[in-house]
Amino acid sequence: MKKTIASLILFAVTGLLISSYTSPPPVSTKAALGQKLFNDKILSKDRSISCASCHIPEYGFSDTLAFSKGIEGRATARNTPSVLNMKNRPYFFWDGRAKSLEQQALMPIAHPDEMGLPVKEAVARLNADAGYRKLFLRIFKTLPNSTNLGAAFAAFERTLETDSSRFDAYIDDLVAFTESEERGRKLFISERTKCFDCHRGPDFTDDQFKNIGLFDGYALNDSGRYRISRKKEDLGKFKTPGLRNIALTAPYMHNGMFQTLEEVIDYYNNPGAFVLNPVNMDTTMGVPIGLNKQEKNDLVSFLKTLTDKRFQKQH
Ligand code: HEC
Ligand code: HEC
Repeated sequence: MKKTIASLILFAVTGLLISSYTSPPPVSTKAALGQKLFNDKILSKDRSISCASCHIPEYGFSDTLAFSKGIEGRATARNTPSVLNMKNRPYFFWDGRAKSLEQQALMPIAHPDEMGLPVKEAVARLNADAGYRKLFLRIFKTLPNSTNLGAAFAAFERTLETDSSRFDAYIDDLVAFTESEERGRKLFISERTKCFDCHRGPDFTDDQFKNIGLFDGYALNDSGRYRISRKKEDLGKFKTPGLRNIALTAPYMHNGMFQTLEEVIDYYNNPGAFVLNPVNMDTTMGVPIGLNKQEKNDLVSFLKTLTDKRFQKQH
């Protein structure tokens, strides 16, 4: 069970441990089939790319590039987000254009800059593969089709919940924060920084679309949610990303423009120093916060407590 930062109740340690992402269990469930497909290049046009090419487990299921590489070296238009902690999200992609994980999963397969394989052809490929035919028949009782393909991915992704971070242990009273982490936690929930206005709840997101000032219509020309809704009030809005495992998923923002968490904090501290004429910026943003060096470090220390135990060894 996930804890929220505001949680006063002490939960027992539930230890929802998924044994390992790298050594898949025998394929007998929808989730295991989804995991196999997630790692299989068969679903890209030239068989060179799998979901895991961009959503790499060691990097919190994202990668290290501002824009990832799809088939034939084509670049994605946005930064690859983590696919951890998706189970309770109401929509997907930076602009929320997919309403379910089932629907979302088919989109990168067909996308010309990602895997470039029309879904019909992807399904035909799976049907031509004796191993997959057998697995789908065993698990779904039907041959591969677009519906059970989406369902397998979604089942796998719903297992990718993380709740074993230093922050969770702190909420459970199992560890004490360092002084810096504690100061950072207080700053994070303070009226001064307002981080918690948007990054709230168990996964540090309000699941809404907000504009933090990274759209100016010129150099920063991704209008985000507006592309989907065509409502002026949505110009430059992106879905508030959850912050669990954030230390693993650099670079940051929809366009990967910040390399480090320190740069992200510098931005929030004084957005005007980075973007001169933001369009439609949220009213809570824009006034310099006036953080000193120690306070910036404290916020970064706090954000680093959100990394799940399972990923800490590699980094
Ligand atoms: C070439 C790199 C690439 C590949 C391959 C890829 N993705 Fe992604 N993924 C991205 C990018 C970039 C985005 C964000 C796109 C956007 O928001 O417009 C994304 C977004 C997502 C999201 C939404 C996350 C969120 O926070 O809303 C999920 C879920 C996801 N991908 C799952 C998958 C699955 C499943 C596959 C394989 C079928 C896959 N991806 C293949 C790059 C990739
Ligand atoms: C008004 C809502 C709002 C407030 C306040 C806010 N954020 Fe954000 N945050 C967002 C949105 C929306 C994005 C994505 C923006 C984009 O890509 O254009 C984001 C992105 C981020 C990212 C990068 C996430 C990623 O996966 O790339 C970090 C880290 C972050 N915020 C931390 C903070 C901290 C720390 C504070 C307080 C100093 C804060 N945020 C205040 C809404 C907000």
